[in-house]
Amino acid sequence: MNNNKISIPPIKSQGIKTKLVPWIKSIIPSNFTGAWIEPFMGTGSVAFNISSQKAILCDTNPHLINFYSCIAASEITPEIVKKYLVYEGEKLLSIGENHYYFVRDRFNSHGSPLDFLFLNRAGFNGMIRFNRKGELNIPFCRKSHRFAQAYVTKIVNQVDFVSKLLKAKQFTFKCQDFSQTIQEATLNDIIYCDPPYIDRHVDYYNGWNEFYEKKLFENLLRFNGKFILSTWHHNDYRKNEYIDLLWSRFSVLTREHFYHVGGKEENRNPVIEALVTNFIAVEAEHHKKSFIQYTLLEKTVDYTVDNMELNRRA
Ligand SMILES: C[S@@+](CC[C@H](N)C(=O)[O-])C[C@H]1O[C@@H](n2cnc3c(N)ncnc32)[C@H](O)[C@@H]1O
Repeated sequence: MNNNKISIPPIKSQGIKTKLVPWIKSIIPSNFTGAWIEPFMGTGSVAFNISSQKAILCDTNPHLINFYSCIAASEITPEIVKKYLVYEGEKLLSIGENHYYFVRDRFNSHGSPLDFLFLNRAGFNGMIRFNRKGELNIPFCRKSHRFAQAYVTKIVNQVDFVSKLLKAKQFTFKCQDFSQTIQEATLNDIIYCDPPYIDRHVDYYNGWNEFYEKKLFENLLRFNGKFILSTWHHNDYRKNEYIDLLWSRFSVLTREHFYHVGGKEENRNPVIEALVTNFIAVEAEHHKKSFIQYTLLEKTVDYTVDNMELNRRA
């Protein structure tokens, strides 16, 4: 695989880390040969771009796990996705937004992985959000021509990419809580944690609060192998108080990242992203190029040992 190309997965979400992948890749130790473990897989955007041969990808959202497990088992193929999206796309075009809500009701009663894909790609801003009853409650993006041929081809190619990757590698998907996943990791593995950002994401399905942040901290503290944690550091209005409270006992690297989703003005402002590691992170030479590609909207920082020392002292 070309190391500089970042492939986009078929599922979207507000917390997707596509833009941070080059940065994350650049700090993976070059002698890493174990399994890449993600307790908070989300869309899989990070794992699918890491050159690890083995990965264990977990999440408490059963629909994400089910979707990728079906691709791994060839129950969902690019051909099946194409046929399904062309059929449902034509219905959406002729019936309009009522068809979106029809598929949403069908998904909320049957949980079909293809309906999950349809709703994810035709819902408002590609968000994944559930109400208190565990029902997907994202409104329609209001574009009845959503599944035009070019868009269907784009999604089919994304499914094709994941499908080929899962055939070539040993990737396992599990629906389970993060503590279970961390417990199953071994010394040679790297755990990459991308939990819902504390004080920023609201989702009834996956409530995240101080209790979980502290539990994650305690679990990672006990882990003897290497971990990388994504979190937010600060924005123009406030800082993430859990950096000082918990994470600053590890190494904290920072970098600017823009969010474009979220109703609140505050959520549209630049967020300083942080990567917390329990090892000394040194940028790998061969990842520098891909890193530069993704700096158009983002300030660069040198995440060398010296910079880490500065961050730690700040
Ligand atoms: C920020 S997203 C991960 C995004 C991912 N890195 C990506 O690029 O798409 C956080 C994920 O954590 C999952 N999650 C929330 N609470 C969890 C828990 N207790 N255990 C495991 N996963 C959880 C959510 O379902 C969500 O998919």
